[in-house]
Amino acid sequence: MTLLFEPLKIRGVEFSNRAWVAPMCQYSADVNGVVGDWHLVTLGSYANGRAGLVMAEATGVNPEGRISIACPGIWSEEQVAAWRRITDYIHGQDSKAGIQLAHAGRKASTDAPANGAKVLEPGEGGWITLSATAKPFTGMGTPKAMDQADMDATIADFATAAKNADKAGFDVIEMHSAHGYLMHQFLSPLSNDRTDEYGGSIENRMRFPLAVVKAVREAWPHDKPLFVRISTTDWADGGWGVDDSVVYVKELEKLGVDLIDASSGGAIIDAKIPNEVNYQIDLAEQVKAQTGILTAAVGRITQAQQAEQLLEDQKADVCFLGRQMLRDPHWPLRAAHELGEKIRWATQLRAGSGWTN
Ligand SMILES: Cc1cc2nc3c(=O)[nH]c(=O)nc-3n(C[C@H](O)[C@H](O)[C@H](O)COP(=O)(O)O)c2cc1C
Repeated sequence: MTLLFEPLKIRGVEFSNRAWVAPMCQYSADVNGVVGDWHLVTLGSYANGRAGLVMAEATGVNPEGRISIACPGIWSEEQVAAWRRITDYIHGQDSKAGIQLAHAGRKASTDAPANGAKVLEPGEGGWITLSATAKPFTGMGTPKAMDQADMDATIADFATAAKNADKAGFDVIEMHSAHGYLMHQFLSPLSNDRTDEYGGSIENRMRFPLAVVKAVREAWPHDKPLFVRISTTDWADGGWGVDDSVVYVKELEKLGVDLIDASSGGAIIDAKIPNEVNYQIDLAEQVKAQTGILTAAVGRITQAQQAEQLLEDQKADVCFLGRQMLRDPHWPLRAAHELGEKIRWATQLRAGSGWTN
């Protein structure tokens, strides 16, 4: 058996393979942050294609936690019911459903990209963003530096969101601690200029993100896996780096985090990101080698043999695919064929499984 199609069990959840769909914003929720037919069809098609895990996009734990006014949320009953329709469908295709719980912090309060992604003021449907700092991200609105009450309220919203994710039928939560969003804003010295116990040393900068993760782990059923997506490096002098990530991951492990999804970048607009094939996969390998935690590689994985090889080389334990899934939502079916692996197709698609006609 190939490694890409070897099942993986984490806590009480068994994934049928290791070809997983990365979280990808769709900017297609309604004004109340409720997902609809677009999400059902798009996420559902990944399940039809036999992805082992379908990870839904960055989803706000409260209205101000969304990136844009078109991003989904998981704070209301209406949102939970809409997500349930989607997780039910995914489960019907023998796939697993994940949700990325997110708070965008200062990189937020925008219109949808389809409307120009303009920064929105409070009077235009936007909001005053929250962050570790009162300094804006380049081109965005000026945030309020969070006080203790803001942090406590946000932690409570994350915990409620975790309970809602369970009610909505999700099998996995991934915390968004990457790409310059709120948790990463606290972690990175490039966006955390605090002088209280939440700024300065790495212990202080980790304090708020770790409190969030602790609250989510406590609110989320013990038999369901918890993942964290991190930016392993800021790709900038004086920024967060792999050594910091190793320290952070060891603390996350103590809190009951099961898997690290190793991404990078996002803290500042002009980071020097190499963007070569495997540039991020080598970072996943470093985190895995130095911590021993289950690790996901992501970034420019497009070919079946490439995915298989990186698993064989023990660079990571699973692969998340983003843009390749946009191009080819049934990619795992193609990958299985190319690797000579027999997997069960949905009955409705089976006539396509011969590849010779
Ligand atoms: C359209 C789009 C939306 C994305 N939205 C998210 C998101 O919601 N959360 C996140 O952590 N990463 C997001 N990403 C990053 C992807 O999850 C992935 O890490 C990145 O695209 C690199 O993988 P790839 O080369 O396979 O596309 C997004 C990427 C794309 C292309």
